[in-house]
This record gives sequence, C-alpha cells and structure tokens, in this order.
Amino acid sequence: MKTSSKPFHNYGKSKTCPNLLIKGLPYVFTSLFLASILSFFFFLYSPNSLILVPKQGHDIIENPSQKQEHQHANTSTLPPWKSHKEEKTCDLFKGHWIRSIRDSSYYTNSSCTTIPDSKNCFKHGRMDNDFLNWKWKPDQCDLPMFDPRIFLQMVRGKKLAFIGDSVARNHMDSLLCLLSQEETPQDIYKDSEDRYRKFYFPKYDFNLIMVWSRFLVQGEERMVNGTGTGIFDLQLDKADEDWANVLHELDYAIISAAHWFFRLIYLHEGGKLVGCIYCNEPNVKNYDVDMALSLVFKTSLKHINNCKECEKGKLLTILRTFAPAHFENGVWNTGGHCNRTSPKNEGDVDFGAFEWKLRNVQMEEFENAKSEGKTRFKVVDVTRAMMMRPDGHPGEHWGNKWMKGYNDCTHWCLPGAIDVWNELLLATLQREG
Ligand SMILES: *[C@@H]1O[C@H](CO)[C@@H](O)[C@H](O)[C@H]1NC(C)=O
Ligand SMILES: *[C@@H]1O[C@H](CO)[C@@H](O)[C@H](O)[C@H]1NC(C)=O
Ligand SMILES: *[C@@H]1O[C@H](CO)[C@@H](O)[C@H](O)[C@H]1NC(C)=O
Ligand SMILES: *[C@@H]1O[C@H](CO)[C@@H](O)[C@H](O)[C@H]1NC(C)=O
Repeated sequence: MKTSSKPFHNYGKSKTCPNLLIKGLPYVFTSLFLASILSFFFFLYSPNSLILVPKQGHDIIENPSQKQEHQHANTSTLPPWKSHKEEKTCDLFKGHWIRSIRDSSYYTNSSCTTIPDSKNCFKHGRMDNDFLNWKWKPDQCDLPMFDPRIFLQMVRGKKLAFIGDSVARNHMDSLLCLLSQEETPQDIYKDSEDRYRKFYFPKYDFNLIMVWSRFLVQGEERMVNGTGTGIFDLQLDKADEDWANVLHELDYAIISAAHWFFRLIYLHEGGKLVGCIYCNEPNVKNYDVDMALSLVFKTSLKHINNCKECEKGKLLTILRTFAPAHFENGVWNTGGHCNRTSPKNEGDVDFGAFEWKLRNVQMEEFENAKSEGKTRFKVVDVTRAMMMRPDGHPGEHWGNKWMKGYNDCTHWCLPGAIDVWNELLLATLQREG
C-alpha cells in the first residue's frame, strides 16, 4: 500500500472544490440542479488522483503498413473463432491500436438516436475525428468487428444488466448504439434521475438493463438538512441490494466500480466503523482506495458465488476492469484537459500508475471468485487498451453550458474508443459459448 499514497496528494487540493463550485454558480439554481451537477463533478474530480504524468512531444504510433490490411473486411461473416484455433485462447486484452482501413465507427449521431447529449461530442463541437479510425489488435489474434445480429442472436430471450456507475452507463449506451443498427430498442423504463434504465428488443426478446450502483456494496450519502454532503458511509460486507435483489433474474451481469471511491468515505463492517478513505482522523484506520476496492469486489463476487435464488448455471458474471481518466496539466477544476487526437503508444503508458494497480486488485478478486468454481465468471479487461486512449474523452465537448472551462476526461465520446468494450464483450461471450 505504500506506493499508492502518492496519488492521494491531489485530494487535499480538490477537497474544497465542491464549495468553490457552489459559490461560483449563479444563485438561482435549485438545489436539485446543484445536486446533480455536484454529483457529476464529485464524480469527475475523482480522477484527480489518477493523473498521468504528461508526456512531452508527439506520440509515435505504431503504424503497421501491410499487416493491417488483412483485418476485418470480411471478419463478421466468418464464423468467429472457427478459422483459427489459437483465437480461442489468445489474450484479447493485450495488444495495441492500429489504424483501421476505413472509417471504423459503427454508427453516427444520426444513426443512433440514443446517444446521451453529454457523450455526443460532435454535436458539441469536437472537430477532429481521427480518433475513430483505430482498431484494437490483440497481439496473438484479431478481434472481430462487432456484429449486432450475432450479439442479439446470442442473447435471444435473455436479460443482461450493467451494474455500476456512469462509466458502466457509458458502456451500455455504446452497446445500445451498436445494437440499434440492427433493431431499434423500446425504451421501457427510466427513473427520475435517469439512473435505472430498461430497454427491450422485441424481435430478439432481449432485455438490457442499467442498475445504478456506484459502490457495489451498500453506500449512503450523509445528508445535512436534506442536502447531500458528498461524504459516504459504506458497508463493506453487504452487497448493494439494488443489484443483489435482481441477480436471480439475470443471465448476464456486467459489473464494474472504482471512480466513486476517490472521496471521503467511512467504511463499516458488521455495522462497525473499521476505517475510512481520506478522513485523516487520528483514531480511524486509513484505507487506500485500492484496498477498499478489493474488499468491495470480494464482497460482491462472494455474494454472486453464494446467490441462493440464482438458478444453477444460468448467470454469467462479467467483470469490466477499471477505465482510466486522462486529465493532463491539471485536474478537472484547475484547467486539466484531454485534447489529444490520437492514441498513445504502449511504451508511453505508465503501468506503474495507480490505474493499473486498481485493475490488478479487481483481477485478483476475479481470479479468487472464479477459482471457487460455483458460478461462471469472465472478465473484459479494458484497462490496458484504454490507458492508451487519452483521445477518447469528451474533454470540453460535453455540452457543459453551465460549467464552461471544465473538461470531462473520465467518460468517453460516442461513437468512439469505448465501442471496443463491446467488441471485447461479444468476443468474450462467444468464447463462453
Ligand atoms: C469479402 O467477401 C466478398 C463476398 O462475400 C468478396 O467479394 C470480397 O472479395 C471479400 N473481400 C476480401 C477482402 O476478402
Ligand atoms: C451530429 O453531429 C454534427 C456535427 O458532426 C452536428 O452538427 C449535429 O447537430 C449532430 N446531430 C445530432 C442529432 O446530434
Ligand atoms: C440545519 O437546519 C437548522 C434549522 O434550519 C439550522 O439551525 C442548522 O444550522 C442547519 N445545519 C447545517 C449544518 O446547515
Ligand atoms: C490542449 O489544450 C491546452 C489548454 O487549453 C492548449 O494549451 C493546447 O494547445 C491544446 N492542444 C491541442 C492539440 O489543441
């Protein structure tokens, strides 16, 4: 845990920001509006701790000249994984970005009507589009193009839920766009805060659900006079009922978490305070974010392994690993930006960084849970690929009309680099058979 203390130094600086933010906003806004803006920025400022050291000069991107031509022109018509045996076992998550031979976005902001406004980067003035022209190339095999028909046939009659925060939602929104090119989904449920969503694809009898769970375990925000304080209490040993109670209905659960842990949080076990993140109180044990995160994943995966109501063999759980933010030259509220227009080289990515450590604790808990052999677990390990994609974020192009000057370097533009998560998801589901 020693090496991880450094990234936290930013927190002291950022801790006061929510107040500055309130003072800086025009008086007329309702507290509800404030709350939603704040929760967005509480979320956004989390990656303060995760800033990569800015690299000087241009990134030299590997640009294979001949090899790239063989890719995907006809891949989606081939029976995936049938042609090459090694493709069943190759590591999909270790590779590099290569230029694709065509405009590789699967959809546009007119062919997909469900892109959330804040991810519709082109609508909000993003001028460069070269970030769409990259394809993830695993070192030992090819990653097939996303074929919505193959995906929908695989999940026919099934129920799939994304369980997590707004980055999980970003993943789901990418999948919605990809699938909508084959069938327009029905929007069947939306809560008042647009956090729980349900979509239905009638032709394939497929249910796609977003279950909002920022921490995966039970977590409550401390309120003062009806206003959120941004301080949370987590029950490290209790899975969040919002997803735990629907688990038995699901065929696929895609879980993820991390970005909400970079804040003042009190940690409880068996109803007793056992420590905190960032509280700096003399008699309270300090937990680093990765330590807390590993306990949260332990509890969550254990809950899945021991699910009593779950029909044997029905559920496939997929852990989506940590997706890094890319603020450079500052943090979200000090002018940090992310305006690169092309990927980074693998050699320019720091695998000693805290992002990678978060991914590793998630992988560790995943391996432990899987080795119990009680239910099926798979991983979609996006961290390495996304550490190379500082060009994939909205930056200033997220429709931030109230918050000019603040950049979103946490979420991902649609269409964009995040679409690869669903190529990886499909390939992973296909391997599972
Ligand atoms: C792709 O398939 C089509 C017909 O199925 C064929 O005409 C074309 O030559 C193929 N392209 C490549 C690059 O193999
Ligand atoms: C799509 O993006 C273009 C810019 O590329 C923008 O002019 C247009 O308003 C956007 N359309 C929608 C429906 O968001
Ligand atoms: C909460 O409201 C009460 C009554 O309006 C007030 O006296 C108190 O100072 C408030 N507490 C905080 C922390 O704002
Ligand atoms: C990125 O933004 C920074 C700060 O606004 C600016 O100094 C820099 O020139 C920008 N870079 C590009 C490539 O636009």
